[in-house]
Amino acid sequence: MRDFLIAPSLLSADFARLADEIRDVTVAGADWVHLDVMDNHYVPNLTVGPLVCSAIRPHTRVPIDVHLMTMPVDPLVIAFAEAGANTISFHPEASLHVHRTIELIKTQGARVGLALNPATPLAVLDHVIERLDVVLVMSVNPGFGGQAFIPETLAKLRMLRERVDATMQRTGRPLLIEVDGGVKASNIAQIAAAGADVFVAGSAVFGADDYARAISDMRGELAQVSESDERALAEVR
Ligand code: DX5
Ligand code: ZN
Repeated sequence: MRDFLIAPSLLSADFARLADEIRDVTVAGADWVHLDVMDNHYVPNLTVGPLVCSAIRPHTRVPIDVHLMTMPVDPLVIAFAEAGANTISFHPEASLHVHRTIELIKTQGARVGLALNPATPLAVLDHVIERLDVVLVMSVNPGFGGQAFIPETLAKLRMLRERVDATMQRTGRPLLIEVDGGVKASNIAQIAAAGADVFVAGSAVFGADDYARAISDMRGELAQVSESDERALAEVR
């Protein structure tokens, strides 16, 4: 059975009360905290830098999952690693030398993720997938929270699931599929069944009155996926 992780995105948090928001979402059961870094160049929005990452680091014990939507990528990697990022994901279109950026992140001791936009083909994983810890599948175009899940993502996830399983068999190392954009309790089961392990949710968590309830509603949906996976496995056995 796969373990499912929920990563609330701070993009939808109240930035005037960031430390409280992080503590609240940690107590509510977040597995990771997702930090969206936007540069008004690679994406048409502007958010936070390493200073904010290091400011929030003491307020949660869970891993900080940094999603770089910046171009270039490399000049920010060391600063985010030093600011306490546990995972650093970047978009291949934003790096001139994808392999070099992957290695730079790894040498900083962070886990590395490659982020694929809705129209980016899985072929960008060729020749580098074995080096990754996370494949971050964008289910919206990057730049804003609160957008609708793009349904074509489901077919992409199914193809990626096969590829990731084959890769893990070869390498013996974990490789997670993370989905980002438009994830909520009403579609999370379908997204999990298509192959995702980690679920980024911004507006669905921070837009709720009760964060613990929002996260446990998602876990409830995921538990049913786990049970049906178990049943399918039992039938095979
Ligand atoms: C979009 C960001 C997402 C965003 C998700 O560019 O990468 O992490 O915050 O927000 P929701 O869950 O509201 O779609
Ligand atoms: Zn993100």
